[in-house]
Amino acid sequence: MATPFYVTTPIYYANDAPHIGHAYPTVSADALARWRRLWGDDVAFVTGTDEHGLKVQRAAEEQGVAPRQWADRTSARYRDAWRELDISNTDFIRTTEPRHYEAVQQFLQVVYDNGYIKLGTYEGLYCVACEAYYTEDELVDGKCPIHARPVELVTEENYFFELSRFEDVLLEHYTAHPEAIQPESRRNEVLSFIRSGLRDFSMSRTSLTWGIPLPWDPAHVTYVWFEALFNYCTAVGYGQDRARFDHYWPANYHLVGKDIVRFHAVYWPAMLFAAGEAPPRCVFAHGHLLVGGEKMSKTAFNQIAPADLVADFGSDGVRYHFLADQRFGPDGDFSHEAMVVRYNADLANNFGNLANRVLKMATSYCDGVAPEARAEGPLVDAVASAVEGMTRGMERVDFAGALGAVWDLIRAANSYIEAQEPWKLHKAGDPATGPVLGDCLEALRVVALLASPAIPRASAALWGRLGLPGRPEDQRLPDAAGWGHGPSGTSLEQGAPLFPRIET
Ligand code: MSP
Repeated sequence: MATPFYVTTPIYYANDAPHIGHAYPTVSADALARWRRLWGDDVAFVTGTDEHGLKVQRAAEEQGVAPRQWADRTSARYRDAWRELDISNTDFIRTTEPRHYEAVQQFLQVVYDNGYIKLGTYEGLYCVACEAYYTEDELVDGKCPIHARPVELVTEENYFFELSRFEDVLLEHYTAHPEAIQPESRRNEVLSFIRSGLRDFSMSRTSLTWGIPLPWDPAHVTYVWFEALFNYCTAVGYGQDRARFDHYWPANYHLVGKDIVRFHAVYWPAMLFAAGEAPPRCVFAHGHLLVGGEKMSKTAFNQIAPADLVADFGSDGVRYHFLADQRFGPDGDFSHEAMVVRYNADLANNFGNLANRVLKMATSYCDGVAPEARAEGPLVDAVASAVEGMTRGMERVDFAGALGAVWDLIRAANSYIEAQEPWKLHKAGDPATGPVLGDCLEALRVVALLASPAIPRASAALWGRLGLPGRPEDQRLPDAAGWGHGPSGTSLEQGAPLFPRIET
């Protein structure tokens, strides 16, 4: 049976439309999913929308519609955005779906029966934007440390999740599994947070109704984070299909932004331990995309819609930018100008020119029929190191590093052409013309294959122009990337430029 591989994005708040800060982790998860499919894994890739809680309720009130109606609208905008970006998610979960209600209620009952939930009174400072309480000393100038907005004093009778009982369990878990939080800087941050002492947290609300009622006390709805995190389990069958759940769980990767690491690396595994379930294998945190050095926000009017970028750069151009041009980990500054420069250099020039000139020469010098590659030559090694570099990079969730290895192969192939000068060989009637172009076509085939998780459209188009059967995503690594595995004698087609240059 195929190895299961389960990757998730956070589920996005359905209070507002998607911006590129949401597209960035979604494209990254998509690249991982597509990469693992090439290795024959049975991939579950889940994204979706987080629809309960005060944040969504208030956004709906501002619009004068019911929360459910507002959630329907915004959730649909996320779906549309992901379609435009060719996101290959296998599920799109909405926390307002019946399957989620049922799964969450079953899970809550287990945690309650196991004795980890107790009734108490809570008074605290609440940030609606975060849907989280803060202590006085966590505030910055008396405001939320993340949103710089005023917090509200809230007093409630709440149920508490006894997080304090999991300090040792979590520390032992992370000592045994250092890979479970990455990168290391985030891991250290989480460890010192756990060591500083964990407090029980309130996991129910009576002050609002827009949420999932507690099964044993329906006057309370579940704290939005408590049930939102559970989407990861609902989506693979918890409460409905235990065999399916056991097949995919624990998740291989939860990709999360740095602002929500604590929820995923402290609360979430403790909640799972409390129910006797396994914690995720890895929570991988990335930095934020900044615009002109600033965080994107509605009030700063600097949010960029994914669709606007797709209109300028195409889906592949946007995907390539997020993966190759932004390092997955630290914060990165988004700039349209820098994106144009890199698009022109890497996609229009390096990738596009290689495809264009090789196909052009092969169609005209070899009557449109692909000649066979030679058994040896510099491109044989270049292909092997591209496969190795891409594999190593993807294993480390280092997309820029992984794609860098593929672009090294593209540069090697372009240099090979410069050195061999097939146009001169052809003019001189040299029989090496075919084999030299055969080498280049073989390198192009491997480029199309390896680049397909990042730029699926261009890869598939190139695959077709090489006359290869099927689609890149139907191929299986490592064999398909082996030198000489491409058939010769296929009919070539030149086609229009895959990445037209963008003038600044
Ligand atoms: N609903 C919660 C997540 C629940 S997961 C069980 C949430 N939603 S969010 O819409 O506010 O943010 C979702 C993700 O988008 C977070 O990981 C956040 O870090 C990420 N990003 C939001 N803005 C971003 C950037 N500007 N750059 C990169 N990622 C950003 O939190």
